[in-house]
Amino acid sequence: MIKKKKIIVGNWKMNVDILPEAKKLVSGVKKKTSKIRKTEVVFCPPFVYLQGIAGMMGRGSTAKWKLGVQNVSTEDVGSYTGEVSARQLKQFNTAYAIIGHSERRKMGETDEQINKKVLATLRAKISPILCVGEQVHDEDGAYLEVVKGQLTKALKGVAKNDILDCVVAYEPVWAIGATVAMNSHDIHEMTLYIKKCLRDIFGSFAGSVAVLYGGAVNPTNIEDIVRDGCVDGVLVGRDSLDVVNFSEIVRIVEEIK
Ligand code: PGA
Repeated sequence: MIKKKKIIVGNWKMNVDILPEAKKLVSGVKKKTSKIRKTEVVFCPPFVYLQGIAGMMGRGSTAKWKLGVQNVSTEDVGSYTGEVSARQLKQFNTAYAIIGHSERRKMGETDEQINKKVLATLRAKISPILCVGEQVHDEDGAYLEVVKGQLTKALKGVAKNDILDCVVAYEPVWAIGATVAMNSHDIHEMTLYIKKCLRDIFGSFAGSVAVLYGGAVNPTNIEDIVRDGCVDGVLVGRDSLDVVNFSEIVRIVEEIK
């Protein structure tokens, strides 16, 4: 059986001020990761850079470097000032769209909107990277219900045929931007739990949906996070803005398997 590629997503957030800097970041990472075979790197820049860097990505589903976005409209077309549709994003060969990131949920994004965004993204043949994660990892385990609820609501109405095109990023909110990531044992447990939830909703085949971890991932902790092969990749914030650190994360993941 061909092993699935690990996915390393770089979420630039609202960083990088000018296009030349964006290009430099992409070309720097490409140069340092040119030999990857078992890993897929996804750059998620602000919308304004998509056109400028789209040509630097590979073509087709087996490309080493792919383009992603950090948000998408709930709608396909129409009078929605300031919004960008998945349909429009497709022209830049956008392969992925981060949806429901905790920073967007904090700005007021609801489960219903997240669900609509997932469906709009799938209609445009872009893979949603659905972010879920609890605010607090409480001792009573209430976080399990929180994550299950987020998954169930966000994936409502997704066809069985489409679920394998989805990616889930488990990002405990308290670990995002923190100095320390969640410990690898808990990451492993949550990854298995998310896969179980997906199987319960869609059937046993949904256990092969890619589940990533995000929150304070860096070159020092990446080995521990991916070593046992449970997570299918990582979502990186801060360190995706640093050519050396991001490339090092990719290198370590590539060498582990
Ligand atoms: P971080 O961000 O790597 O800076 O913790 C992760 C994220 O927000 O996805």
